[in-house]
Amino acid sequence: MESKARILIWGCGQGLKEVFEKYPISMNNIVGFVDINRDLWGKSIYNCIVISPEEIDNSAFDYIFITVKNDDVVNSIKSEYSQYKFIDREEFVDWNMRQISCFAEMALEDNDEKIMRYYHRVLRSYGCYPVAIPDSIYFFDKYAEYQNLLIKYTGKNTVNQLKDISRLHSFMMNINRLMQNSIEGAFAELGVYLGNNAAILYDYAQTYDRKLFLFDTFEGFDDRDLVGVDSGQKMQFKDTSLEAVKKFVGENSKTVYVKGYFPESVTEECKKEKYAFVSIDCDLYIPIKAGLEFFYPRLSKGGMIFIHDFSGCFFEGARQAVDEYCKANCLTPVLLPDKAGTAVITKSL
Ligand SMILES: C[S@@+](CC[C@H](N)C(=O)[O-])C[C@H]1O[C@@H](n2cnc3c(N)ncnc32)[C@H](O)[C@@H]1O
Repeated sequence: MESKARILIWGCGQGLKEVFEKYPISMNNIVGFVDINRDLWGKSIYNCIVISPEEIDNSAFDYIFITVKNDDVVNSIKSEYSQYKFIDREEFVDWNMRQISCFAEMALEDNDEKIMRYYHRVLRSYGCYPVAIPDSIYFFDKYAEYQNLLIKYTGKNTVNQLKDISRLHSFMMNINRLMQNSIEGAFAELGVYLGNNAAILYDYAQTYDRKLFLFDTFEGFDDRDLVGVDSGQKMQFKDTSLEAVKKFVGENSKTVYVKGYFPESVTEECKKEKYAFVSIDCDLYIPIKAGLEFFYPRLSKGGMIFIHDFSGCFFEGARQAVDEYCKANCLTPVLLPDKAGTAVITKSL
């Protein structure tokens, strides 16, 4: 879809509310709203006019995006107005996220305060804040791998990953630095899901010729962990499989997929290893605590453990596991301001 596309949004009800709550929307291309509710006709929402379906023929637009939730209604609109081009939800969201990043780049390049202020305002109203790409990447092109990694990082989830782009930046900077300082050992991730982070680790493991261990049930949370502080958490991440992740991330002789309930899944090979960089991203108290107990003693001097969700507030158990482990081992976690609130623990040289 071209960037100058004019979009008419059909439906001002709950469906629209959900889309707007869930995703940052660039209002730049939205030319109006359509609704069958006559009370809304002629009114202005989000600075655009609401029109009746009869007025569509007299409007200038390129695409219609339907936010109505009922599939039968969606299908009947599509067949009644079959002369027009429609965008489906996934395409709209994906395109819109790209629009927003182009908008940000434009503002940065032109150094135009007006665009920048508008961009901040639009994003803020949807719970997002723009994060500048670090100068080392944007201006100095210090990480030649960036564009390639960005595609992998967002390959299985454009929306959330783009919102959490600072996490990719922190992986890039820290892994490269560890390798430049010749910190020995393998890479590992506990909590792989569809493999977004794992794809980044795989790329670096190949570049720096390191082993990579990827631990997950590949079947979502385990009931044994949904107790205590996590008894209120819902079952999640079942929509994955070892085969699908292997296909997306890649396979080679130095990558070991460890399928099963952690820590029961650890093998002698994993136990013997030293680790340079570990990502713990399994959300819940029991596996995070077990992950720290397993990896920290095996972490090389100068190595790092990134623990996701420490200060994001969705997973109280993550904070508790890290705090308890750090207190017992006299460690001080450093907190990163990425979306889910990563904590980093290091082992000094
Ligand atoms: C938030 S997802 C991981 C996201 C992933 N790091 C990414 O890059 O998108 C959490 C994952 O932790 C895994 N997990 C949670 N508890 C586990 C346990 N005890 N053993 C193995 N895997 C576990 C889940 O199966 C799920 O795939």
